[in-house]
Amino acid sequence: MSVTIQLAYLLAAFLFALGLKLMSSPETARWGNLASACAMLLTVVVTLLHTEVVEYQWILVGIVIGSAIGSLAATRLQLTEMPELVALFNGFGGGASLLVGWEAYHRQPLQDPLGAATILLAVVIGGVTFSGSLVAWGKLKEIGWRSFRLSRPLLFPGQQAINFLLLAFLCLGGVLYGLDSAESQTLFLVLVALAFLIGIMVVVPIGGADMPVVISLLNSYSGLAACAAGFVIFNNILIVAGALVGASGLILTNIMCKAMNRSLTNVLFSGFGAVAGKGGKKTHGEPRPISAEDAYFVLEAARSVVFVPGYGLAVAQAQHAVMELGELLEDNGCEVRYAVHPVAGRMPGHMNVLLAEANVSYDLLVEIDDVNPNMETVDVCVVIGANDVVNPAARDDAESSIYGMPIIEVDRARVVIVLKRSMAAGFAGIENPLFYKDNTRMLFGDAKSSLNAVLGEFKRS
Ligand code: TAP
Repeated sequence: MSVTIQLAYLLAAFLFALGLKLMSSPETARWGNLASACAMLLTVVVTLLHTEVVEYQWILVGIVIGSAIGSLAATRLQLTEMPELVALFNGFGGGASLLVGWEAYHRQPLQDPLGAATILLAVVIGGVTFSGSLVAWGKLKEIGWRSFRLSRPLLFPGQQAINFLLLAFLCLGGVLYGLDSAESQTLFLVLVALAFLIGIMVVVPIGGADMPVVISLLNSYSGLAACAAGFVIFNNILIVAGALVGASGLILTNIMCKAMNRSLTNVLFSGFGAVAGKGGKKTHGEPRPISAEDAYFVLEAARSVVFVPGYGLAVAQAQHAVMELGELLEDNGCEVRYAVHPVAGRMPGHMNVLLAEANVSYDLLVEIDDVNPNMETVDVCVVIGANDVVNPAARDDAESSIYGMPIIEVDRARVVIVLKRSMAAGFAGIENPLFYKDNTRMLFGDAKSSLNAVLGEFKRS
């Protein structure tokens, strides 16, 4: 039986790796998801056949509760709430690894150095991931009380010194625990508490546009914690799957850092948040509203149009309407493209998922580096619920908290039509000078309603 189990684990590991590979391209991503889901099912079933499983009733209780929560989340949750859910999943993954390490410690406190080290890693990385992800969840959910908003960077004097002290205590505690694991019940609890505290302290100063980096980093941590937990219970598939999540999370973190034009140390330690309180220069002038009818006239005459989707597209669920408008424009002889910023929306690939749902062809999607150089030749940029990712302050205003972040430079197009409901700020909480530029027109209202109104004008003509 043991050989069969290990062979099944090998197959599952292959399917996990294949799933990741397939997910790297939009055309094959669905198959990648299926391969990974099959690998997970195989892993769960085979693990249940393990001779070490002595009782099934608690496992059954866990499966029932987990499946109920999972099904409810999958059917009830709006797509806009996915990022928060992902943050929670990361946290629960970390929490589960912590519990595995904790249980192993209580079962057998006296461990050899390697055993003690794996337990410590599972507990510490799991703890940091758990508490850090909960804070990240609160930030994404924009939890607040009166004027306090968790999503804003929380900064106080001596913060970095405290962080380094906590880290030093953790390292010292880890060494003491390694030297004398059997006697260190209190020390073990102190280490758990320190891990929780570090997770919170690392995430609270991060705010605004920098959240994508921390979300992908926590995702990577959850994998590393699972990998350590795999070593604790000698489970090969947990080691492999954890390492895959850890490594792919790190790659994603790197991509997000590039998208923000920041180094990881800059985000985590030098406190991008430390300047994030600054909203940049004040913008003067009046925005120029436009009606759906006038927007139609502008679009009808355009030869090239670039749609720039953002978080508001997800809120309004306007992906089908934009696709329909894109098709009408193409029928009208216009070149249509969709410029997708890597951190648009609230989770990596957010816009790509929405546009794929509406069957927008991948060939029409362009990245920042492809669209920016020729922006002057674009007749109309239609910004649909995007704000931070098109904010020219990131390019022009050294005082702005998002200064240096690459943006889609829609302000360089001949005409910009911005679809949003009000003059409210985006996730970074700062003003956007784009809305006051001479070539910008504001089409106020819910993005889907505005697009439908423009579509109505097209159909009437
Ligand atoms: P945001 O800067 O968040 O702006 C979204 C805009 O959509 C808002 O200004 C809002 O204005 C508008 N909006 C909301 N609901 C709308 C609706 N129903 N119809 C029309 N407009 C609507 O979005 P973005 O440009 O996509 O930038 C993403 C931001 O989130 C970045 O700062 C990024 O760093 C951060 N972030 C990203 C991620 C990932 S991984 N993508 C994760 C966490 C945070 P109104 O209220 O006036 O309508």
